[in-house]
This record gives sequence, structure tokens and C-alpha cells, in this order.
Amino acid sequence: MDLEDYRSKIVNCDYRILKVLEQRYNWVLKVSNYKEKNRKPILDKKREEGIRADFLKNMSHTYFKRYHEEEFIKIINAIMEVSRDIQYRKIYKKNIVLIGFMGCGKTTLGRILARKIGVKFLDTDYQIEKRLMMKVGEIFSTLGEEYFRKVESDVIKNIANGFHGVVSTGGGSVLNKSNVKYLKSSGKLIYLRSSAENIFYNLKRSTKERPLLKQNLNINYIQKFIKSRHEIYNKVKDYEINVDNMSMDKIIHYIYRIM
Ligand code: S3P
Repeated sequence: MDLEDYRSKIVNCDYRILKVLEQRYNWVLKVSNYKEKNRKPILDKKREEGIRADFLKNMSHTYFKRYHEEEFIKIINAIMEVSRDIQYRKIYKKNIVLIGFMGCGKTTLGRILARKIGVKFLDTDYQIEKRLMMKVGEIFSTLGEEYFRKVESDVIKNIANGFHGVVSTGGGSVLNKSNVKYLKSSGKLIYLRSSAENIFYNLKRSTKERPLLKQNLNINYIQKFIKSRHEIYNKVKDYEINVDNMSMDKIIHYIYRIM
């Protein structure tokens, strides 16, 4: 056999892998229907551990088993990630987008929620920071708020162009109409409503810099600020959760119910 023969064997293997994957994901679609009907969560950690264990147990090629087990685990993990994505798209149909005032817990809740469901998580501020390689506070002080908002809008536009999962937004993102249009086209907007006292408490403990509150981190100012924003959050939201005195678990179960 020469090189081209080997290559054509590989192409044939890829073809068979693809066909088997399509078959596998067809069964996953059936699982989605079952889970949707019976309100079961997408992520089942025990089941995934079992799949991983079986996959490794069935590895018979001693050379690959000895030297490439880790890479094979990566492959089965990626296959399962796509399964979760397929289920998420089928069951939730839309992204879960968290909106609300600074310090109401969008990022913390979003990260936990995404982990529980087993889907991707995206935080708009983190995306902006990654793009500009600067922290939010630094962006505001060196490049200015207007520049920050421009990048924020671009990040949001990209979300609407294909992200699937849970999104937590910066508190000021929904002040821009076009951002709202993109966010709404991508998902359901959940307004996490919180009192000035709670927000003050959270912000006091937060390590993230809030340039818009820098000189005014007090309950009175926060109260006024929330008042000026509440109307817009209220107008654009699909759902609202009053997160004060609500445990993380309760909030998550409430989101499961409404989505
Ligand atoms: C802002 C909220 C911040 C961040 C920036 C501006 C706002 O995000 O985007 O400091 O205008 O409310 P968090 O809501 O996550 O604090």
C-alpha cells in the first residue's frame, strides 16, 4: 500500500465515525424528548462517568491505551459535550440570559446554572476583558465607557450569531436598544431583581471593580441608580426573579420551571 491508500483508509474511517455519530445523536434526540417530558435535567454526572469508564474499558489497542488514553478521554468528553448541546437546544430552545443591576449575582448564578444543566456559560464582561486584555475598571479609565459599550455591543451581537447556553450580561448592556434586540433574539431574558441593601452587601464583598460606583458605594446612591434602571430591566425582561432571600437552589429550580 502507498500513502494514498493509507489516506483513503483514513477517509473511510472518518466517514464511518461520522455516520456512527449521527446515529448516536439521533438517540440523544430521543433522550431529549424523554427528559423534556419527564422534566429531567440534561446533565447526569453519574451517567457521564459511566460512559467514560465503559469507553476506556473497551479500548483494546494496547499502544493507544498506554500512550493516548488521555486524548481518548478528551474525545469522549467532546462527544458528550455535543450531546448536551443537542439536548439543550431541543429542550430549552433559547439561551438563558441573565440581566439586572451590578452585584445582583448574574455571573455567580449563571456559572452555577450552566454547570448544573451541563451547557456553556458566557459572561459578557469577561469576553470584553479577554478581547482587550484589560479588566473592566482599566477599560473604563483608559479607553472610556463609550469604547467599552462598543465592544460590549459587538460581544452581544456574536452571542446572537450562534452561542448556546447561559449568558450573564453587564448591568448596563440592556440600555442599548440594539443589544436588547440581539439578546432577545437569542434567548429569554431573566431579570434578577435585588434590593439596594443586598446589592450593597454583595458589592462590598466583590473583587470586581465597578467603575460606575467607584466614588459612590453607598446604599442611597445605589438605590437611586437602581431606580433609574429598573424601568428598562422591567420593560425588556421575559421573566423576573426577586433574588433577595432566595437560595441559589431555589432560583435554579425556578428557572428550570419557567424555561
Ligand atoms: C455596568 C455593569 C458591570 C460592567 C460595567 C458597567 C453597568 O457589570 O459591565 O462596570 O453599567 O451597570 P456587572 O453588572 O456584572 O457588575
